[in-house]
Amino acid sequence: MAPGASRKGSVRRVCLAYSGGLDTSVILRWLIEEYDCEVVAYCADVGQEEELDGLPDKAKATGAVDCVIRDLREEFTRDFVFPAIRGNAIYEGTYLLGTALARPVIAKHHVEVARETGCDAVAHGATGKGNDQVRFELGYRALGPELAVIAPWREWDLTSRPDCMAYAQKHGIPVTATVKKPYSIDRNLLHISFEGGVLEDPWRAPDESMFVMTTSPEDAPDTPSEVVISFDRGTPVAIDGESLGPAALLRRMNQIAGAHGVGRVDLVENRFVGLKSRGVYETPGGTVLLAAHRAVESLTLDREVMHERDRLSPRFAELVYNGFWFSPEMDFVRAAIERSQENVTGDARIRLYKGGLQVTGRRSPVSLYREDMASFDQAGGYDQADATGFIHLQGLRLPERK
Ligand code: ARG
Repeated sequence: MAPGASRKGSVRRVCLAYSGGLDTSVILRWLIEEYDCEVVAYCADVGQEEELDGLPDKAKATGAVDCVIRDLREEFTRDFVFPAIRGNAIYEGTYLLGTALARPVIAKHHVEVARETGCDAVAHGATGKGNDQVRFELGYRALGPELAVIAPWREWDLTSRPDCMAYAQKHGIPVTATVKKPYSIDRNLLHISFEGGVLEDPWRAPDESMFVMTTSPEDAPDTPSEVVISFDRGTPVAIDGESLGPAALLRRMNQIAGAHGVGRVDLVENRFVGLKSRGVYETPGGTVLLAAHRAVESLTLDREVMHERDRLSPRFAELVYNGFWFSPEMDFVRAAIERSQENVTGDARIRLYKGGLQVTGRRSPVSLYREDMASFDQAGGYDQADATGFIHLQGLRLPERK
């Protein structure tokens, strides 16, 4: 929106990513007032565990002409979380990308819903300082380039929660009086994130009362649990021998790992927009799945393929983080990663105890591990005498160190 230009009439009908919370309720009304347009509310269920009953009524009471809820939990897990597990995607060595992975699936359906409901624009409630605006808008650009994009946080003059409260009051917007948490939260089936507010001081420890998906390690059971996770070509398919669909498997893994306090991290990360930001995350199931996946890979991946894939993993994580899910370079990286997973089939056994995890076993019907060769007791086709020449030739080029 150019400064001074009138918003009125510039769009006809806007599809707004809507949660029913204060911010997006205010945005809904603000769009109607400022753009003189119709608003379709769109709500994506990615497992945030918020009450969705009554959401359409609430949206309509705030002025929406329609409200569409999409259950994306299965697709999110199958097509975004599990590819990230197969690629061992971890940002800056620590963050398991829970929020970043949900944004593209939300954007994809946002574009679909906008088209299906005859909208000529999309709007979201992400602020101008974060990664989420970039992720949403790169998704819109790739999938629905004809749609205009409205980011009210970058346009309006409401700058604080009291401003939003006052706006809601003035326009009779129904706000449920929830106690505002002293930080910003984003939850889905893979994780919950906390940032901002009291957490902005990177030295300040997170309050124990903040955590949602994990028991405190101190309060976790005094006896460890063991869990066996089965993978088929890199994808987790069963827990303790029970086959489960993607979302059900991730949910079960979250319960098991969360009960043992596994999957908390606290880091300062580099946002794509150039800021450093402190984040605290709980990713219980994802943490265990990644460890188990690596354990199965250790038996089933060729050494050089593993090392090539390992070079791609940080790049893959960076593309996810920066919002380039729908990009040519992502297609290329993902194709290579998927190709690496063809033989990654087998089980890993993980022990969970007081916030920690250990791999205690791995097995595979297509294992490349040769017990007969590795054994200290048997020869099995590996002639130890060959090692003499191998080392000799490796050492030929090494200059003498004085
Ligand atoms: N810093 C994390 C990321 O960029 C989490 C963002 C959480 N988003 C939020 N709106 N609270 O992926």
